Amino acid sequence: MSILAEKRVLLVIGGGIAAYKSLDLIRRLRERGASVRCVLTQGAQEFVTPLAAASLSGQRAHTDLFDRADEADIGHIKLARDADAVVVAPATANIMARMAGGHAPDLASTVLLATTLPILIAPAMNVRMWLHPATQRSLTLLKSDGVAVVGPGVGRMAEAETGPGRMTEPDEIADALEALLAGRDGGKPLAGRHLLVTSGPTHEPIDPVRYLANRSSGKQGHAIAAAAAAAGARVTLVSGPVTLPDPPGVTVVRIETAREMLAAVEAALPADIAVFAAAVADWRPATLTDEKIKKGPEGPPPLALTENPDILATIARRTADRPPLVVGFAAETTDVIAHARAKIARKGCDLIVANDVSAASGVMGGDRNTVHLIGRDGSLETWPTLAKDAVARRLVARLAEMTATP
Ligand code: C5P
Repeated sequence: MSILAEKRVLLVIGGGIAAYKSLDLIRRLRERGASVRCVLTQGAQEFVTPLAAASLSGQRAHTDLFDRADEADIGHIKLARDADAVVVAPATANIMARMAGGHAPDLASTVLLATTLPILIAPAMNVRMWLHPATQRSLTLLKSDGVAVVGPGVGRMAEAETGPGRMTEPDEIADALEALLAGRDGGKPLAGRHLLVTSGPTHEPIDPVRYLANRSSGKQGHAIAAAAAAAGARVTLVSGPVTLPDPPGVTVVRIETAREMLAAVEAALPADIAVFAAAVADWRPATLTDEKIKKGPEGPPPLALTENPDILATIARRTADRPPLVVGFAAETTDVIAHARAKIARKGCDLIVANDVSAASGVMGGDRNTVHLIGRDGSLETWPTLAKDAVARRLVARLAEMTATP
């Protein structure tokens, strides 16, 4: 059952083209058992009508701060209190700036200023508006005020521009709200557990200045570490070289090579759950020279490779302190599912998260991911394309279910 069951959500709809998706969001939230009450800004009403919001939510939609009927009926202070969470979708640059500055010229912003409830915003705006320093300043202020943020996604926008600014899809907003409330409810499904995650690429030195590497950004692994920490786990993240910030509340061990990663993983045991999301280099140069290899008349030096340890297989085969749940990733460019099925047996893990990393998929380094979950018993589950942090939250929820003590 969703944590949203029986929860009351106040949905503030801002004035942007993405407002039409908020109508779908009402439906998605209600499907998960929440009741939804809507407040529309004046701008929002240019895109969707209060009647549509009211019909879908089954409750009157609110629009005016000085509507006498409204104030007698519920009032802006009561609106700000009579709910379990507030969602702002789409959160326009204007709403974000008002929230960050504490301005309250209309009903939506007054409610947002008066509320002490958890707030989740789903920004949506033109790329340039999103990237403008003023909006980024608002975002920083809102985050430091404890406002949760989902998105925006990257993609084609209404104005035929491409970049960050698209509102996150309604199902993912609902997932993010679940995660927010799960955290606030003390419903920390991984409390007391130790989760070990590997993330990022490894660098395998050829000489003091050159190395072999791959295109992994670490985004998926880091998002899993963050989601697990938000779910109450003690998290050790063993990370190869990445440019991402450390996820909050996570112990990060930085390594460069596969052999260092294996040593760091072994040192972090025991763990209740181990998730191997790193793109470990399969091979390393067989010899490492202390001096930079010089270019010379003899032409390019031969590059002999030797196999790296398979960290996932090594840990999955340990006897004394094998983590009870070992999860591997399978990054494939063809026959994703068939390869993943073979891999689960070969590696000895309990679950494989398989994804297509062919150049056309845009997964490597991108923000979105389409994954298949393959179990030891051959079971297959395909998830819709989601933002990497949404994949992480879903996966963490699944791992919590799989390790729940009855
Ligand atoms: O064999 P392949 O590299 O496709 O397997 C992918 C899975 O194995 C991932 O979970 C990855 O983190 C893990 N792996 C590992 N050590 C290696 C190679 C892969 O832990 N040397």
